[in-house]
Amino acid sequence: MSTAPASPQRKVTLHTLQAKKERGEPITMLTAYDFPTARALDRAGVDAILVGDSLGMVVLGYDTTLPVTMEDMLHHARAVARGARVAHLVGDMPFLSYQTSVGEAMRNAGRFLQEGGMNAVKLEGGREVVPAVRAIVAAGIPVVGHIGLTPQKVNQLGGFRTQGKSAAAARTLLEDAHALEDAGCHMLVLEAIPDRLAGLITRRLSIPTIGIGAGAACGGQVLVTHDLLGLTDGFAPKFVKRYANFHDEMARAFAAYIEDVSARRFPEAAHAHELDEDVFRALAHEWDGALAH
Ligand code: KIV
Repeated sequence: MSTAPASPQRKVTLHTLQAKKERGEPITMLTAYDFPTARALDRAGVDAILVGDSLGMVVLGYDTTLPVTMEDMLHHARAVARGARVAHLVGDMPFLSYQTSVGEAMRNAGRFLQEGGMNAVKLEGGREVVPAVRAIVAAGIPVVGHIGLTPQKVNQLGGFRTQGKSAAAARTLLEDAHALEDAGCHMLVLEAIPDRLAGLITRRLSIPTIGIGAGAACGGQVLVTHDLLGLTDGFAPKFVKRYANFHDEMARAFAAYIEDVSARRFPEAAHAHELDEDVFRALAHEWDGALAH
């Protein structure tokens, strides 16, 4: 495996991201859960990497993000932190790691920086999470907010549905967005809301919004990397753009390997380790009592 040094670019900070927003340049964010993906994202020059709790669905095979634990998140956060030197690293706080008390929220947010190598945390919710956001920010930990479709509330929302379609729901989202900005969030993810609503919210905030299924007017975009790469063969939401079909490519490569091994076409001489002729002859004589082939 190649271990070429990562590019000597400067680390992306909160200030880099805010400056991009002020220059009107879109911020790029993608998810990663492992070392090689983090290295590839850093090499490609993505601004921010989210170690999302989507981990539960695209890597661990759960139907929702709800079973994901702090230990799962930290395990994957550490792998990503070892792979990415430049991108701003955001650890996603899993279900029940911040909802039970402000103290628990602070402690778990701190673990993402102390044990996970992250630069910031993300948590889902509107005004109900403001006390936790304030406390985490006061401890010196940058926080990304997340409103709209918040997958940890899938049972309450009745499924993975578009949010903010009525005027009342849209007003609630705008109030939540203002509350999160006032509480100190440095970015705000808007998930699965109408494009024009995302545009209206984006224009009213001074922090960048990062859209996923929220249209082009957001300050930046995030996608789940496994969706973008076509690594999963199941359903992909309408807002996903597939840039590759790695699931088919993997299945093709695995089938080719199985065929090669079955037909003894692999391994070939080029893959073999040499054994000195004298050593081979001595062993063959000792073990077989004759020269082996
Ligand atoms: O967990 C995740 O990957 C996310 C993104 C979809 C924003 O929260």
